[in-house]
Amino acid sequence: MIKVDISNIWGTLSLPDLLALEKEVFAAHKTLTEGTGEGNDFIGWLDLPSTEETDEMIRIRAAAKRIRENSDVFVVIGIGGSYLGPRAAIELLQGTNHNIGKGKGNPQVFFAGNGLSTRAWNELKRLLDGKDFSIAIISKSGTTTEPAIATRALRAMLVKKYGIDEANARTIAITDPCKGALRQMAMEEGWETFVIPANVGGRYSVLTAVGLLPMAVAGIDPMEVMAGAVQAKKDYDLRSFENPVWLYTAARNLLYRNGKCIEIMESFEPGYKMMGGWWQQLFGESEGKDGKGIFPVTAEFTADLHSLGQMIQQGERNIFETMIRFDAPEETFTVQGDEKNLDGLNYLEGRTLDFVDEQAFLGTLAAHVDGNVPVITMDMGKLDAQKLGEMFYFFELACGVSAYTLGVNPFNQPGVEFYKRNMFKLLGKPGY
Ligand code: PA5
Repeated sequence: MIKVDISNIWGTLSLPDLLALEKEVFAAHKTLTEGTGEGNDFIGWLDLPSTEETDEMIRIRAAAKRIRENSDVFVVIGIGGSYLGPRAAIELLQGTNHNIGKGKGNPQVFFAGNGLSTRAWNELKRLLDGKDFSIAIISKSGTTTEPAIATRALRAMLVKKYGIDEANARTIAITDPCKGALRQMAMEEGWETFVIPANVGGRYSVLTAVGLLPMAVAGIDPMEVMAGAVQAKKDYDLRSFENPVWLYTAARNLLYRNGKCIEIMESFEPGYKMMGGWWQQLFGESEGKDGKGIFPVTAEFTADLHSLGQMIQQGERNIFETMIRFDAPEETFTVQGDEKNLDGLNYLEGRTLDFVDEQAFLGTLAAHVDGNVPVITMDMGKLDAQKLGEMFYFFELACGVSAYTLGVNPFNQPGVEFYKRNMFKLLGKPGY
């Protein structure tokens, strides 16, 4: 189980404050799992974890095998909940440089359609030059502008390179089971499709083909990810403060009620950056509505101690932190001695980098707590594919329970439409 430690929030709050919230968290958890709250037609993700080798899972693995064999590059097109999860998973397990040195047999995985930058598009075009590639288009609605534009462009490149039949065989659509333009296109063109169940919203979809297919193409076993999620579903159903989901939910809601309206999630792993992005979108889009919500921000330590550190230590006291830790990897790195010792570093001779990192964590924790910043710590344990599944389920559950504790619908995002409407009007889209 993930270990959540809230002992460093007590400068701001007391144990009776936390216990007073028990009934509310209990009620929120019940509302979520019994499907009696607002947005209850989008709680299908609660039951996604399964160890069953379903037909969908068999097809995911077969498609991944085919793509691994026939492609140097796999391009995943999608935005928001249709992109962050798989990217987070791959970067957390394989690092931010995971594409270096890869090709057919173990293809590179790039992400497109998550913005409107011409420079990013030109870069992707150059990266694909002379390479065999396949694409997956991920969109629940099937109408989102950014992925739709990328789809047109990449489809044109595929057709030019391979002709229509092979281009179609190299295109996969992951979308709603019945509705939307993407479903329609896939049916007309004969693309292989995978389903985002109607009762699963974008940001809760990582344990469907949305996350599992790109992970499988990158060589991460989707059954292992599912095994972690299945265990999480059992473990985190506990209805007491022994449940780390409850501790996290209660602590952040209490802190929010006491003026801490910004949560900075920090990890000491550069590979966690996109996982932080996934968490940020999950919580931001689920909680930020009706004039409420904790603003979620992510940071990478120790790098950002040299940018945000000053603000955290001595800026406005409206923040709290959630620090993420993992077990050290098996392959260690040891600081070498140096005869001249001009940099004065010999006092660390023989120490592992992990030891130094641990002291940085402890030192930062103590400093920030001294600076009156409440800190929640999460000890994730060993980082592997099962842990990914566990973490995804843990945060989704915590988000659902937390949003209901906050009194908002965790499963809609009405605010996202505002920029789209303005953009469509400016672009002259018919009907706007
Ligand atoms: O969480 C969500 O629902 C959103 O972030 C969507 O995933 C995002 O807007 C993309 O939508 P779609 O999958 O319909 O293209």
